[in-house]
Amino acid sequence: MSKATVIDHPLVQHKLTIMRKKETSTGGFRRLLREISTLLCYEVTRDLKLTTETIETPMVEMQAPTLEGKKLVFASILRAGNGLLEGMLDLVPSARVAHVGVYRDHDTLEAIEYFFKSPELLEDRLTIVVDPMLATGNSSIAAVDKLKERGAKNLRFLCLLAAPEGIENFAKAHPDVPIYTAAIDSHLNEQGYIIPGLGDAGDRIYGTK
Ligand code: URA
Repeated sequence: MSKATVIDHPLVQHKLTIMRKKETSTGGFRRLLREISTLLCYEVTRDLKLTTETIETPMVEMQAPTLEGKKLVFASILRAGNGLLEGMLDLVPSARVAHVGVYRDHDTLEAIEYFFKSPELLEDRLTIVVDPMLATGNSSIAAVDKLKERGAKNLRFLCLLAAPEGIENFAKAHPDVPIYTAAIDSHLNEQGYIIPGLGDAGDRIYGTK
């Protein structure tokens, strides 16, 4: 079985190509990320369970479909994950949000946690962890470790770009967490950047370089 689902919708692929271009401005990049995250969110939630409720239209009473279960949780891995959050919240405005701060030590590439805040009772909720880049997988693995420690049992991981190494590492650490991505790139370079990639996602979203 494939370790990652590639979301190959033509609009996703087209927008991703513009985002990869080095000449795309910060404003353009951010706007595209918001748009693409809405499409990714649509795909990652396409098999959510439905139940029915009785409602009244202006004409008659009917049994109408509605999402089953508790509100979703979107867990953003800071800081670049926040770039994916906005478009997802446009689509699911009632979702709860967790923030997980893990940074990569530049020498060891290990993930160090510096912030964690999440809704309580993660047990009963689907938690969708978001980070644009699945590179080494270290920060994503650490973030999912933390969410599982706080009770999350039903998780999915959503990113924009993944490196084969990151998919391998993540799937080994968390085989129960399906990965969704818009593309699987060639490899990581020595600094842990995805090639061909799109550069540093945080810098491109926030214009910090
Ligand atoms: N994080 C990024 O922002 N870009 C990469 O290529 C890898 C990790």
